Amino acid sequence: MRIDILSIFPEMFKGPFSHSIIKRAQEKGLAEIHVHDIRIYSKNKHKKVDDYPYAGGAGMVMMAEPIVSAIEDLKSKTNYDAIVFMTPDGKVFNQNIANHFSSFDNILLLCGHYKGIDERIRENYITHEMSIGDYVLSGGELAAMIVTDALIRLIPGVLGDETSALSDSFQDGLLSPPVYTRPFDFKGFKVPEILLSGNEKAIVEWKYQKALERTQNRRPDLLKNDEL
Ligand code: ADE
Repeated sequence: MRIDILSIFPEMFKGPFSHSIIKRAQEKGLAEIHVHDIRIYSKNKHKKVDDYPYAGGAGMVMMAEPIVSAIEDLKSKTNYDAIVFMTPDGKVFNQNIANHFSSFDNILLLCGHYKGIDERIRENYITHEMSIGDYVLSGGELAAMIVTDALIRLIPGVLGDETSALSDSFQDGLLSPPVYTRPFDFKGFKVPEILLSGNEKAIVEWKYQKALERTQNRRPDLLKNDEL
């Protein structure tokens, strides 16, 4: 999978993408992440990328010209399955969407700032609009990082144990059951005996019941929600 990201703050991505699973996925050649600076595409001598909104109003708007030049340049080199604008008024990202997008070969993520981007970009160049939740961030960068992380860990071979993404919370519509490690007795708090019983069938059933219980208690909405 190749993910291209358009941002006016490309430096922000350095930390999150150079550690742990995302780093290893890139080293193994399973994921390629390219962050591009939108300002490079500005024809303005001060590398300006925003301007006042027509008809007034608070805040600045990201101009069509540099963003569209960037999208067109990237599109001339790569055939994208999705050109996604990160925005709080987009569709709320979830594990179903992550699973769907993880089969794509090429994705372009556009990070907005200020009061938004010129609507003509959204209407004519963007294929998907994605939010990471009902709150407003200072820009789309953190949202793009989150989506990138969620997608890359689903690529076959990225996680050491091929099955571990399948046992993540949300993958079967349920939160994950509790997990324990040694010691058996920690300050008098004991691991549930069943996990040491060796009875595989009973353990699978226990895990399922715990996952169901946890989901019912914490996220009953998930038990009804199967939309993509
Ligand atoms: N940009 C600002 N807030 C955002 C959000 N909640 N999701 C995606 N992009 C954003």
